[in-house]
Amino acid sequence: MSRHVLGIRYLDTTEIDTLLALAAEFKLRVIEGREVPQLPKKVVGMLFFENSTRTRVSFEMAANYLGLKTANFAAGASSMSKGETLKDTILTLRYERLDALVIRHRMSGAPNLAARFFGGPVLNAGDGMHEHPTQALGDALTILERKGQIEGLRVSIIGDVEHSRVARSNAWLLSNLGAEVRFVGPRTLIPTEPGQIPGIVHHDLATGISGADVIICLRLQKERMSEGMLSSVGEYASMYQINREALAWANDDCLVMHPGPINRGIEVDDWTADGDQSAITAQIENGVFVRMASLYWGFGGGLEDIIEPHVPVTARRAA
Ligand code: NCD
Repeated sequence: MSRHVLGIRYLDTTEIDTLLALAAEFKLRVIEGREVPQLPKKVVGMLFFENSTRTRVSFEMAANYLGLKTANFAAGASSMSKGETLKDTILTLRYERLDALVIRHRMSGAPNLAARFFGGPVLNAGDGMHEHPTQALGDALTILERKGQIEGLRVSIIGDVEHSRVARSNAWLLSNLGAEVRFVGPRTLIPTEPGQIPGIVHHDLATGISGADVIICLRLQKERMSEGMLSSVGEYASMYQINREALAWANDDCLVMHPGPINRGIEVDDWTADGDQSAITAQIENGVFVRMASLYWGFGGGLEDIIEPHVPVTARRAA
């Protein structure tokens, strides 16, 4: 059986819960040096058509822990530079007998297209302004570890929501698990129809993060912006930067998160990014384990194959 991870929107609560529980279990085993399931005969194609550091390396690490082999694919050096379509590239990889694909592409929906033409599991590593499901799973695991639960939390997502696949996947996941999601930023960087993604819009930072349990900062994604969306980066920072002064508006134990890459001094200052309330390095670490879970689940593995009984992670409460 093969399953795709194309977006959080396409997963139900039980599937999200299973992926988080698998990730938590894999993390424990890796840290304790215990065995994890092995899938040694399988080869995963790593198709990164856009730049990536943490997502690509964490998928490589995840594959490595599971005993999978990876086949790398440099978009610039491939036949796509000779005019081959994405569909034909996917068919080529299918008939070369690759078993799974991890795909990052600037076009929203590219992984969905790949899943139509490829036989095995397809995992979305970020597509345009659509979704980044494994980032959201890693963020949810980090929140669960620090807060014990997601239900009832107030989560403020700050900045360039319009161009952010991370914001979309996080909004779908966190609201599915019962959090209150808020989008905070200038009018030009909040989708014009935010009603399509679950969240309450605020344009003022102080009210947007008042009483927040979690703040997720977003990078200004200038590569996706058209002219005139921002008057100046300095002005944006003066209004929306998460720093010591801003944090005072949130709850005392508010977590500060950022998917990276961080532009220090713009969306977040050094004091906050490196401070006690920051969960940024935990997000990076957890990225590996949620990608292990996604690959394992994609190949048909479930929690019942590795542990019993299954206690839903999302049902866990803080002690
Ligand atoms: C993000 C992405 O590529 O969507 N980074 C990541 O994968 N951790 C966010 C960004 O580029 O700002």
